[in-house]
This record gives sequence, C-alpha cells and structure tokens, in this order.
Amino acid sequence: MNFIVIVSVAVVLFALRFAKLNALGWAVAWWVGVYICFRYGVVPPVPASIMSMYMFIVTLVLVAYVSAAHDRMKEVTDSLIAFFVNPKYKIALGLSLLLLPVLVAFQVYTGMTSQPQPPISGRTVHPPPPGNISFQGKQIDLLTVHNPYRDLADSDPQAFSAHVNAGRSIYYQNCVYCHGDNMEGDGMFAHGFDPIPANFQDPTTIAMLQESYLFWRIAKGAPGLPSESTPWFSAMPAWETFLSEEEIWDVILFLYDYTGQLPRASEEVH
Ligand code: HEC
Repeated sequence: MNFIVIVSVAVVLFALRFAKLNALGWAVAWWVGVYICFRYGVVPPVPASIMSMYMFIVTLVLVAYVSAAHDRMKEVTDSLIAFFVNPKYKIALGLSLLLLPVLVAFQVYTGMTSQPQPPISGRTVHPPPPGNISFQGKQIDLLTVHNPYRDLADSDPQAFSAHVNAGRSIYYQNCVYCHGDNMEGDGMFAHGFDPIPANFQDPTTIAMLQESYLFWRIAKGAPGLPSESTPWFSAMPAWETFLSEEEIWDVILFLYDYTGQLPRASEEVH
C-alpha cells in the first residue's frame, strides 16, 4: 500500500465537497480517484487485466448510484446534453473528440513498440552433466564413457572415416536445419529459437567439452537440462528416441572432424 497516494486522493475528494460539483462531476471524480488508488496506491502493481476488471465494477457501481435517484440521473443527463449542445463547451467538446482517438492511437502504439523482455535470470550454457544416464534401457556412466570409435583414427583409419561419413549423413539429415550448413548455429530454423542453436565452430562449445558431455546433450536434449539452464526454452531435441548409441557417437565424430576441433581430454584422476 502506498498511503501517500491514498491519503492525497481522499483529501482531494474531501476538498471537492466544497466545490459544489453536480452528480456527473462527482461520478467522474470518484472514478478517477479510485483509478489512481488502484493504479498507484497498491504495491506491487495490479496487473492490467485485473485493473480493467476493477474499473468495470467501479463504473457499474457509479452508474447504479447515479441512476438510483431520479434527480441525480436528471442532473447527469442535463449536464451531458449541455456539454454537447451548449456553445459554451464547444472548444472542450472539440478537444475531447480529438483527444479520444489520439489516446487510443497512443495506447496501440506503445503496445506495439514495447520490446518483449528477456527472462530475469541468466542461462547456464554448459551445466555440469549428471554422473550417469539411462539410454534406451541401458545405464551409461558419463564419468568414464568415451567414444568407442575415437581410437580407430589411429588403429584403423578406414573404419574411422566410415564412422565419420555415417555421422555426416546423420548430421545432414537431422541437425543441419538448426545448427546450419557450416555448423555455425545458423540453420534455416535457427532464428525462430531462443537460445539460438549452438555454434560448433565457436571455440567455447565442442572444443572445450568432452565427448561424453556431447553424448548426454544429444541424447537428452533440452528436456534433460537442469533448471539453471532452462529460463530460456532450448529447442534442442532429445535424440535418444531417434538415434542409436552408435549413431550418436558417429555424429559426434563428424562434429569434430568437420570443425577441425578436438574434444577436451578427460582429466586424469589421481
Ligand atoms: C530444432 C533445432 C535443433 C536441432 C534439429 C538440433 N539441435 Fe542441437 N541445439 C539446439 C539448440 C537451440 C541448442 C542450444 C541450447 C541448448 O544447449 O540446449 C542446441 C545445442 C546442442 C548441443 C550442445 C552444445 C553445447 O555447447 O553445449 C549439442 C552437442 C547439439 N545441439 C547437437 C546436436 C546434434 C548432433 C543434432 C542432430 C542430431 C542437433 N543438435 C539437432 C537446437 C537443435
């Protein structure tokens, strides 16, 4: 409650008793007074939809009050008619006819130009992964798991490139729409999303992550993110329902192969 506002409105309404207002003047003064109390006298602010509901009720009450007594009703209709026909009010009438559309236009303008605000809390882009995950009915220990095809790079380069090529098809069939032709996070759907898809060419993504981390993110997608990463709605799908374990490891090989990055080595545990 902001008592200064409420007390000032009460004082003004009290002072108006001496101004010999007619019934219309009173109704308007009360309407404005109640509006100011709700709008500025209540902390935290009343939401706009509730405000319009309150003001609708206040309007009904005032109409009921005015129309309940014959002389009050007559006073109001007389002053309204006078406002429209009496030449004395010509300028005021002209101004109000002009002002109404201007007010409506202003309201529409401010509504359309206000920018949507981002969520207040920031997003943790790389949250710590869980210790283990269940993947298609099997437990995978993320602390120890490594890409089973990585070592083929040295031991069997031909088999290695077969896996990379399998990863290439998987990428261009599934990931390119968001992560882009060039893996820069600018696929054709990318701009509809917030956060935008990860840019794998950027050294702060896959180059500083381990392959087990990527496995987790690809398998579990946005639904697998912990709450510190979800104030923004990630569009990253959970690929565990579409890709096999081997296909995920293959696409991971391709991400590194294409960008020329290397996964972060797992830390030695002493
Ligand atoms: C519908 C759009 C979309 C598709 C399709 C998509 N992604 Fe994503 N991906 C995202 C978004 C958005 C993010 C960033 C937000 C996040 O981390 O969840 C992301 C993040 C990631 C990350 C995390 C990177 C990091 O730095 O933490 C990886 C890894 C990833 N995607 C891999 C893939 C792979 C592999 C595919 C294809 C099998 C794929 N994505 C398909 C939208 C998509």
